[in-house]
Amino acid sequence: MPRGPISAGETGFYNPAMAAPRTRSVLLLADALEYGWLTRSNSGLRVLESLCSTGTRSRRWCTEIPEKLLENVIITANDRDAGAIEWAKSYGDGTVINWSQEDARILMHRDSFQWIDIDPFGSPITFIDSAMQSLPRVGMLEITATDTAALCGSASDASKRRYGGLGLNDSYRHDDAIRILLATVAKAAAQHDRIIEPILSLFDGHHLRVSVRVRKSRKKASQVGEMIGWRHRDAAATLSLEKVEPCSGPLWIGPLCDAEIAGRITEEKALQLCGADEDVMPEYWTANDLELSHREIIRSVRFIAESADLMSRNHLFMPIDLLPRLAGLAGPPAMNSLIGALQTAGHCAARGPNMDPTILTDATLDELITVVQNL
Ligand SMILES: C[S@@+](CC[C@H](N)C(=O)[O-])C[C@H]1O[C@@H](n2cnc3c(N)ncnc32)[C@H](O)[C@@H]1O
Repeated sequence: MPRGPISAGETGFYNPAMAAPRTRSVLLLADALEYGWLTRSNSGLRVLESLCSTGTRSRRWCTEIPEKLLENVIITANDRDAGAIEWAKSYGDGTVINWSQEDARILMHRDSFQWIDIDPFGSPITFIDSAMQSLPRVGMLEITATDTAALCGSASDASKRRYGGLGLNDSYRHDDAIRILLATVAKAAAQHDRIIEPILSLFDGHHLRVSVRVRKSRKKASQVGEMIGWRHRDAAATLSLEKVEPCSGPLWIGPLCDAEIAGRITEEKALQLCGADEDVMPEYWTANDLELSHREIIRSVRFIAESADLMSRNHLFMPIDLLPRLAGLAGPPAMNSLIGALQTAGHCAARGPNMDPTILTDATLDELITVVQNL
């Protein structure tokens, strides 16, 4: 499957590079239905893919989530592009989807949905407020952003305009981008007396995606400021409410995922739900194609379950390429050896799930450096 973005503006748009986030989306919705963490009964759960193009994500929800879990789930797929919706309707794969063709903001203002997916070209900013108004007391919001230059600090004007903050274009930029987007979503939620609980947050190539549970709580929403601060550029890249230059932010300094839910996003589960097999695969596929598709599915969820515990609480975030300078060594340590050594020393450690090789640990910076030097 190709990596990288496809150009905007074509009717019937389908971007295979977005297969990985769709796979994660299938796993998350299936998990919510199986474990009942959104609504206890799931009965009549209203799911909206608000910017669906030709509806690949919705169709994958319908075809890959076990039928029994989908009983009574109502999936609506919307796009304002008439051509895309026409194409989607004519696809004829037997899935039961409510197709809708209007501006997503109007649809979300008018109707209430418990699960909303926002997957625009570029910034999601113009859709977030409408989504907040659509969600009931407890809901789920999945948001993709592809305006990574703004979120990673290389387009500073756009960053300030859209997100009221600024990333720095350095080794922390991907984690910062996620946190800047989460801060924006948290502030929008607070305006509607709601709080966010991050379930899964990932930077993957040319896009990032945050999945948050949104809950009504006037009291906690008033405390949103306690979760939004700065990332300092000290050696530990401290996240803090206090602004100490140089720093990036304002950004979310709270958890990036839910340990239990993200802990279940495993390679085995991904293959079980989303993997084709010889009975269910396109006729023209060879065994090699099947193998490649399995590898692609595994890649979609790599390192998520292993890092879920640390991503759900305070941790030291250390890009591996910074370690030689900090530890006075000629080259970076091998990731697996370092994780093993940290665990042997009694710490939690994992590889971060974002693209760049990064170590996450609950060790302090001094403890990490000692372990690296003793490797
Ligand atoms: C990146 S594509 C969506 C891709 C799709 N979610 C998928 O997984 O393949 C973005 C879509 O948003 C649609 N769009 C843009 N602005 C919109 C709006 N205000 N209301 C509804 N659809 C909109 C575009 O027509 C386009 O098809």
